[in-house]
Amino acid sequence: YFRERTPKGLKKPPGPWSFPVIGNILELGKKPHLSLTKMSQTYGDVMQIQIGTRPVLVLSGLNTLKQALIKQGDDFIGRPHLQTFSFIGDGQTLSFSTDSGEVWKIRRRLVQNALRTFSTSPCSMSTSSCLIEEHICNEAEYVVASFLKKMEEKGSLDPYRYLVVSVANVVSAMCYGKRYNHDDQELLNLVNLTDEFGKAAAAGNLADFIPMLQYLPNQTMKVFVDLNRRFQCFVQKLVNEHYKSFDKNNIRDITDSLIDQCQEKKMDEDVKIQISNQKIVNLVNDIFGAGFDTITTALSWSLTYLVIHKDVQQKIHEELDQVIGKERRPRLSDRPLLPYMEAFILEVLRHSSFIPFTIPHCTTRDTSLNGYFIPEGTCIFVNQWQVNHDEKLWRDPYTFDPERFLNADRTGLDKNEVDKVTVFGLGKRKCIGETIARLELFLFLAILLQQLEFSMKDDQKLDLSTEYGLTLKHKRYELKIRQRFLNENKE
Ligand code: HEM
Repeated sequence: YFRERTPKGLKKPPGPWSFPVIGNILELGKKPHLSLTKMSQTYGDVMQIQIGTRPVLVLSGLNTLKQALIKQGDDFIGRPHLQTFSFIGDGQTLSFSTDSGEVWKIRRRLVQNALRTFSTSPCSMSTSSCLIEEHICNEAEYVVASFLKKMEEKGSLDPYRYLVVSVANVVSAMCYGKRYNHDDQELLNLVNLTDEFGKAAAAGNLADFIPMLQYLPNQTMKVFVDLNRRFQCFVQKLVNEHYKSFDKNNIRDITDSLIDQCQEKKMDEDVKIQISNQKIVNLVNDIFGAGFDTITTALSWSLTYLVIHKDVQQKIHEELDQVIGKERRPRLSDRPLLPYMEAFILEVLRHSSFIPFTIPHCTTRDTSLNGYFIPEGTCIFVNQWQVNHDEKLWRDPYTFDPERFLNADRTGLDKNEVDKVTVFGLGKRKCIGETIARLELFLFLAILLQQLEFSMKDDQKLDLSTEYGLTLKHKRYELKIRQRFLNENKE
């Protein structure tokens, strides 16, 4: 489908020579974010490679990303047809389906509204400023207690297992008004499968690009299909329960809100685009799925950096002691008062770049970028990892240094530096959970670090090599956790 007609005045994007059938998969290797970053130094910000038989355009450089995704947003708004994506939520999700037209727009707005109502909108019923603050405070407190209990029993622990359930509980409280026990087998079975999900849904899964591979037995793909089916059943059951107890005058959570908005749409004769009940399940699936793996991974990377850089951890402790003290718990309203903590989170996001590529994009029409012709239907990889490690943008990009984000007198953030971090994507397909994600990371970490000190178990050397996927995962390891002071007083 790739047409070799380049209009006058435009060039074909440069790229490496490729083999027949396999294309550039050998150069791509097991860490495409690294190999494509290196290749972009030779071929530039707009580079064409071949994965299997399919041409893929790889975008690098902050200005080029802004040009494509913001200024020419409508040209680059699509999602490619990939076999893997067709298995996620029956091919009907907001995030992965090929739809980017009117229906997608309405569904995206619907989800954004529901999400806002049950997360950050001001809340009058409790002492918290909004619902999500209350959920995060409860869950973070629970994690602290679980950590301390496990430390007493065992002397060290793998934090991931506790973080994943608590983070899933925050998004579950918003979506379904439901909280799970930390040993709930149904939830654990699901959340423990996210590594498999990430491996298959990553940019550059070969099964998506070499059609022959789709007919061969493929273990990753089999697990992936099964996992999506289980996820769908899990969400379906909860949505069904909501339909049964639905009361228009008592909208309890995101699922209720979506049901309500869809019923209203159906009554409106002018609205041609109807959102079927089936699609509601898939929208909840989008929020739940996107809402826990990303944040758990970010928290887990944060703890990793804290135990490697003890001086950074000490500075965070000092800032918390000075601004909050130990008589009360941190709150969302403390965020502007804790610039070093904010700088730390930004540096974790930048340095780990744990979402190395956005979800792949696709051109919706023939277009051009930086003087290169790009036909409609071209699959686009957006290399966020490259931007976050670009030597033209960052001083010592491979050094972990939160201070790069502080202003000259260290009382606040340097907006110019902050704006260069790309982890949530840009433009019309940008992450809809960004606000939630940033505040959730802040509050979880502030509550954990006010009370706890993290260190490595013995002299264990950390292996920081990552496993490539939709999110980059570090290896799991055991930590030692110490309570900083006995907390008799709590707000
Ligand atoms: C899409 C990053 C948390 C919901 C995305 C994209 C990225 C991203 C890179 C793809 C953008 C693109 O394709 O151009 C992150 C990071 C997070 C995070 C780094 C946490 C640290 C969340 C949360 C939610 C969420 C908490 C929901 C509660 C979504 C959805 C999309 C998306 C629904 C698809 C949007 C679309 O295709 O129109 N996110 N995300 N994300 N994210 Fe997030």
